Amino acid sequence: MTSASERQRFEDLYDVERHVMATDGGILVEDPYPAFAELLREAPVHEGSVRELLGYERGGLSLLRDGPTYTAMSYEANDTVLRENTVFSSTFYAGLTTLMFGKSILEMVGDEHRRNRSLVQHAFTPKRAQWWIDRWITTLVDEAISAFEHDGRAELNTDLCARIPLQTITASFGLTRDEAFEFREGAEGNPMRAADPAVAAARQQRTAEMLHRVIEARRREPRDDLITMLVQTELDEDEERHLLTDDEIYGFARLILTAGSGTTWRQLGILLVGLLQRPELLAEVRDDRELLRRAIDEAVRWEATDPIFRRLVTEDVTLCGVDIPAGAIVEMNLGAANHDPTRWDRPERFDPHRPAKPNVGFAGGPHVCLGMHVARAEMWVAMNAVLDRLPNLRIDPDAPNVRIIGLEHRGPNGIPVVFG
Ligand code: HEM
Repeated sequence: MTSASERQRFEDLYDVERHVMATDGGILVEDPYPAFAELLREAPVHEGSVRELLGYERGGLSLLRDGPTYTAMSYEANDTVLRENTVFSSTFYAGLTTLMFGKSILEMVGDEHRRNRSLVQHAFTPKRAQWWIDRWITTLVDEAISAFEHDGRAELNTDLCARIPLQTITASFGLTRDEAFEFREGAEGNPMRAADPAVAAARQQRTAEMLHRVIEARRREPRDDLITMLVQTELDEDEERHLLTDDEIYGFARLILTAGSGTTWRQLGILLVGLLQRPELLAEVRDDRELLRRAIDEAVRWEATDPIFRRLVTEDVTLCGVDIPAGAIVEMNLGAANHDPTRWDRPERFDPHRPAKPNVGFAGGPHVCLGMHVARAEMWVAMNAVLDRLPNLRIDPDAPNVRIIGLEHRGPNGIPVVFG
């Protein structure tokens, strides 16, 4: 494959504006934070979905279930919903994600969730981040930057941000570069998936075959990769132990492809834009890499790429003074929680110098993002390479207005830069 056609495929699969059209009902919100702040001033929890509270029609995943909808706005309200997972239940996703990945940890609760998550957790610990860096991330970042380093300009969304997460995860599955695209193109969670059901089904079939082939090969001959780890994992169920089945591994692979490659590209873009829009900060993180580490978490607080998630209420409950009946949906507005002024001063400001404090951009409680250390590692290696190898980096002064757009899936509309 020529690099031009590869670039085109990344451009097609990872275009924030097209994603917003496909997933956010075309709502190209540029900055929802002033409206979130106003709502939070009024109350920590509101009746209505985020979209309705912003004046749009109910939409997105909330349409999946009937029942009254409430939105958690404050940090305390969101933190409670995240932690109390039996009352505010992840079974909200049951059905939806079952169709996409088979029954996944995303929709499980309690012991079932703990047992299944612990099977894969060991591949995603903070210590394991270095394994991901050494095995895949460093090489992939190096290759991406080498391709444009001498051009004096690049579009960092396509040329860097889109590549690293997809290629890292699919390389950990043992797929080739070409197969990586097919896997993403055929993934059920991909909003840019083919509209024609026959084409989508054929791609899905191909994807399943691809992965089953790798699983079979790793059962015969183990390697140092994620699929090998998964084929060697034993599930303890009803006092019987069994190895994960091919379908269980395939379902998990599809989950982390969607969760990992559909998010980190936008969050890395947000980090880059936050720094490029403040050249003095870019210079500071170039000289102080500990500050860069803090800038990564600050970007997740400032502009969480996926700020809205949902739970199903399983019993009558009072949340921050608001009575919510069993059967209701609660939308967690993690974006609003991360801008709660009782927790952060001038929350609208991207400021890596703030005192470190946990935020909920990677969620929290039992479903806290499984891949957060991999995501941080990808952003860390990519940003270090950008700082080391692209001198005098700035937003292309001739390019159209660079801005962060979207409601449920936020990211920059493009990152055209010049350097050297
Ligand atoms: C910056 C990038 C990322 C962000 C902002 C992010 C955010 C989140 C959030 C908010 C959740 C909670 C969803 C819920 O409870 O309803 C979540 C769950 C999850 N994430 Fe991430 N994620 C990122 C990257 C990744 C990566 C790279 C992977 C895998 C390699 C990953 C795998 C998962 C999985 C498997 C879950 C489900 C965990 C569970 O239900 O126990 N994520 N993520």
